[in-house]
Amino acid sequence: MNPSAASLRDLELPGIASFHQDPGGLTELRVSTTAASARIFLHGAHVAEFQPAGQRPVLFMSAASHFAPNKPIRGGVPVIFPWFGPRSGHPESPAHGFARTNAWEVESLQSSDGTNVEAVLKLTSSPATKALWPHDFILRHRIRIGASLEMELEVENRSAEPFSFEEALHTYFSVSDVRKTSVTGLEGTRYVDKTDGMKIKTEGDAPIRITAETDRVYLQTQTTTAIDDPGLARRIEIAKAGSDATVVWNPWVAKAKAMADFGDEEWPAMICVETANAGESAVTLAPGAVHRMRARIAVTPLG
Ligand code: BG6
Repeated sequence: MNPSAASLRDLELPGIASFHQDPGGLTELRVSTTAASARIFLHGAHVAEFQPAGQRPVLFMSAASHFAPNKPIRGGVPVIFPWFGPRSGHPESPAHGFARTNAWEVESLQSSDGTNVEAVLKLTSSPATKALWPHDFILRHRIRIGASLEMELEVENRSAEPFSFEEALHTYFSVSDVRKTSVTGLEGTRYVDKTDGMKIKTEGDAPIRITAETDRVYLQTQTTTAIDDPGLARRIEIAKAGSDATVVWNPWVAKAKAMADFGDEEWPAMICVETANAGESAVTLAPGAVHRMRARIAVTPLG
């Protein structure tokens, strides 16, 4: 169940962070400081908006998105756990796991200086999650809103046995026109091409240009990536830690039409560059152990 906005009043930070009830039944946290504004849904611990002061929104949100319990939100930053994409050997399981369709609790909401706000959201294994995945865990998503957006997904194994999982901060970035942007930082990196029978390929030396449906899992890469967007005169930098894979996705024309919660004409306005551990970088965690994956998203002018 989604905790109601009214039940969270005591946690609010007057003037900078408050909870709101949406018509669809979801609860959201709105943050507004001199550094940035943001919207975070407890459903999926989902950052739906991040806008540094004086700048345009950094994240893409689909106008066709659902905002309903049990359905993922299309855009922003879905949290993917404990499997990425379809679950291997389980065609009946929901794509990208269950973290994005569960209601998370608010563990804490703080600001040390009135400018930077940190929300910590928590999801604990339950009979519902154990029906899908039989392990005990605690997930914490630490979201820091300031001049940059920082996210840290923490996975703690509370089972008596080790478990393995995949994860992603499935970030949708807003761009002027994906065909006129380029992605740097993945030059020379091996990747799985999900649009070409999962073939393993190696990226060339030039920045990536999107010219068709693109769905790639770049392997063994910890580097900072950047999206250069001359149309918006900005560069979005994605620095990361605890992540060995980076996913680049744009659905292009046909796949956009096939998705019910994504507008047919919205694909040029977005690109996903996802901080992930997926496929060969799935994480195995011993009982009691903790794994953390971080992403820091910052915007700079493109000179
Ligand atoms: C990407 C995957 O991360 O997410 C794609 O690599 C997938 O294969 C896309 O199509 C969107 O997934 P979903 O489940 O949100 O429609």
